[in-house]
Amino acid sequence: MLGNFTYENPTKLYFGKDALSYLQDELALYGPNVQFIYGGGSVKRNGIYEKIMTVLQAAHKRVIEDGGVMPNPTLDKLYEGCRAAKEQKADLLLAVGGGSVCDYAKAVAVSAYCETDPWDTYYAHMRRIKNKIIPVGCVLTMAGTGSEMNGGSVITNTAEKRKIARVFDARVFPRFAVLNPEFTMTVPKYQMAAGCYDIMSHLMEQYFSGTDDTASDYIAEGMMRSLVHSSRQAIRDPQDYEARSNIMWLASWALNSFIGKGKSQDWMVHMLGQSLGAYTNATHGMTLAAVSLPYYRHIVKAGEAKFARFAQTVWQVRPDGKTAADIAAEGLQCLEAWMRSLGLVLHARELGMTEEMIPQIAEGVFITHGGYETLTREAVEDILQQSL
Ligand code: NZQ
Ligand code: ZN
Repeated sequence: MLGNFTYENPTKLYFGKDALSYLQDELALYGPNVQFIYGGGSVKRNGIYEKIMTVLQAAHKRVIEDGGVMPNPTLDKLYEGCRAAKEQKADLLLAVGGGSVCDYAKAVAVSAYCETDPWDTYYAHMRRIKNKIIPVGCVLTMAGTGSEMNGGSVITNTAEKRKIARVFDARVFPRFAVLNPEFTMTVPKYQMAAGCYDIMSHLMEQYFSGTDDTASDYIAEGMMRSLVHSSRQAIRDPQDYEARSNIMWLASWALNSFIGKGKSQDWMVHMLGQSLGAYTNATHGMTLAAVSLPYYRHIVKAGEAKFARFAQTVWQVRPDGKTAADIAAEGLQCLEAWMRSLGLVLHARELGMTEEMIPQIAEGVFITHGGYETLTREAVEDILQQSL
């Protein structure tokens, strides 16, 4: 049964090949100082930087350049961005990039005017925001995280080897997001596949929980089917606009709180992946791929009916007199085959995890309680061992 909930999503989306033409109207709503935030340089190579600069200049904005946001943005970079935003009085943080750039912009948005240490206040301790928040806008160049339409912001504290995801309220969501699927065409295949798996993982984390009948689960199944289909197309032909646009649209809806409303959720794959990421700095989607199958094979018995339903609805496994356990196992085999076809990393050692790291990584895993089984510390270590 659906529980009680409030649904609010303030992000205005502009989608399609002409989406960037709306940026000028959006910019007109904010003051003159725009902090232009981008990553390690892909925007300069593919021409998006020039396009954005042209719009900013036409809108007579004073540009505060803030490039070099790394994948898995760090706390040190956050401090740097906060200094720039405060000293130069940023009126808008314009994030142009993937989830890392967008997450970082949200972190700067809440941290620039925070009078205490932002890591301690907003990440280690998830306190309510009491200070001024700078508005964020986004031009997305890589599909996967859903950061363009949610309050999520993941920051890595390299000194403490902790990667923490904070979900801020609607005040921090991007006010607008420009989604042109053509902008994602230059994303390397490895990153594209990782992004596709991130979407799948967001769907599964919200799906594999509960035994009740919720509309949200039917919606998630439809999205998973579309994702499997479009990701196969995109791997075959990365220039396939139809596939890339479906993937971009699915990414936003997989993690903008819509499909998880009113139901229990799991999120253990992300907790395992985040701790693995804190130790290896590996690509987010790949950390999830490396731990998923050992995790799901660990909990499949506890959630057997749902895994059997997943097998039949998402992968069209035929029941043909099989037991629920057999159907559920077959569904996970189909998931594995799809993951292999995308070229996803299935072993954490390929991401730099060693056996010696396992106890420390396990120590950093936050245990959630919404799934079919609450993991013990031993189970976490066992899953990491299986992931190696
Ligand atoms: O830095 P540049 O040079 O721009 O290159 C990036 C980066 O190397 C490249 N890229 C992006 N768009 C491109 C492109 N290369 C060529 N052409 C383009 N159009 O792709 C690489 C990865 O980018 P990144 O932003 O790091 O990827 P992603 O979107 O997967 O974001 C990952 C971060 O988001 C967090 C992750 O933990 C990780 O820190 N997440 C955020 C969530 C949220 N806000 O809700 C939820 C997720 O579960 C996730 O945890
Ligand atoms: Zn994710």
